Amino acid sequence: MPVIFMLAPMAEISHRALRELIAGFGRDAAGGPDEYFTEMISAGALLGGGPFEKWYLDGGPYPERLVYQIAGSDPDQIERAAALLDRRESEGGPCLGIDINMGCAAPAIRRTGAGVAWMASADAAGTLTGRLRRVVRRRLSVKLRIGFREDFEELLRFCRRLEAEGVELITLHPRTAGEKFRRSARWDYVERLRGELKIPVAGNGDISSPEEMLRRAGGPLMVGRAAVRRPWIFAAARALIGGAAGTGGEKAALEGPLNKDTVNLEETGIRFLELLARYQPPEFHLSRARRFFGYFCDNLKWGTYVKNLLNREESLAGIERAWRGYFAGTSGEDREAARV
Ligand SMILES: Cc1cc2nc3c(=O)[nH]c(=O)nc-3n(C[C@H](O)[C@H](O)[C@H](O)COP(=O)(O)O)c2cc1C
Repeated sequence: MPVIFMLAPMAEISHRALRELIAGFGRDAAGGPDEYFTEMISAGALLGGGPFEKWYLDGGPYPERLVYQIAGSDPDQIERAAALLDRRESEGGPCLGIDINMGCAAPAIRRTGAGVAWMASADAAGTLTGRLRRVVRRRLSVKLRIGFREDFEELLRFCRRLEAEGVELITLHPRTAGEKFRRSARWDYVERLRGELKIPVAGNGDISSPEEMLRRAGGPLMVGRAAVRRPWIFAAARALIGGAAGTGGEKAALEGPLNKDTVNLEETGIRFLELLARYQPPEFHLSRARRFFGYFCDNLKWGTYVKNLLNREESLAGIERAWRGYFAGTSGEDREAARV
């Protein structure tokens, strides 16, 4: 069975610039995952026609692999937003699917009744997804956490209701609503849920290497933070399984192993900045650059120092100068990696 790889929805991170960067690690589409989830799009802001919506909606470079994620609390708004995105043609193509965020536990989201707040009532979530099923023509999916406590039976009842309403894929990030990243993800919940549901269950949480992607590949896999730290992770995982993954079974065109010692980290950072300038509005540049380098700098021996250095800059040009300056000034391992 082919393994389906997915890029996780991450606010201020899962935008077109990151998708382009990731895809660039293989020929054509082969460097990237099979599915790219967008960062969550607020149903209310979308319908209100906020000034930045066109940037959130940019589905490039592969709209046919794009899944729009919607966050909201008002069923009418979510339904209208879903219908709009479902019919949207981005760069000549419709998206792959519509995903509803029922997993985000950030207090600002949860307090409004969005994200994981939906998991408080299987009835409310079931009614919503039933309504969405009638307007969404593409794949309808939902992203969840375990819920408010560790109770597999309750999670299963919730998921069975969604399945009965026509949801076609569930992504489980197996942590409870109150847990941050300190506690490790409970992958046994993913395995058990996969055993119980008829629809596919994508597992997500703490995947950190291409080797681990292979170990976890008993179903679709979603990768978040590790894909920012190592944008080549999907290409490297495909190379490990002989290029047989996913739609079309493309081969990643690789010349040897991809890892932080073989990839040119300096140029990858510069490329990201170029993509950011091209595909995001100036108002977003600094916040998105900081988010990206907050993870990407983990590849460097002096990562924390570099993060602080970049965070002091107030423009993309300044960030580029500081980034280049670091590589010009370092000796030792980071310099070695930058030279390859
Ligand atoms: C900065 C950041 C932003 C996130 N934004 C979203 C989001 O918009 N929607 C969502 O469903 N999950 C969001 N998440 C959760 C991720 O999609 C994912 O479930 C989580 O990071 C665990 O996967 P990982 O260990 O591979 O990173 C976010 C996570 C991070 C770190």
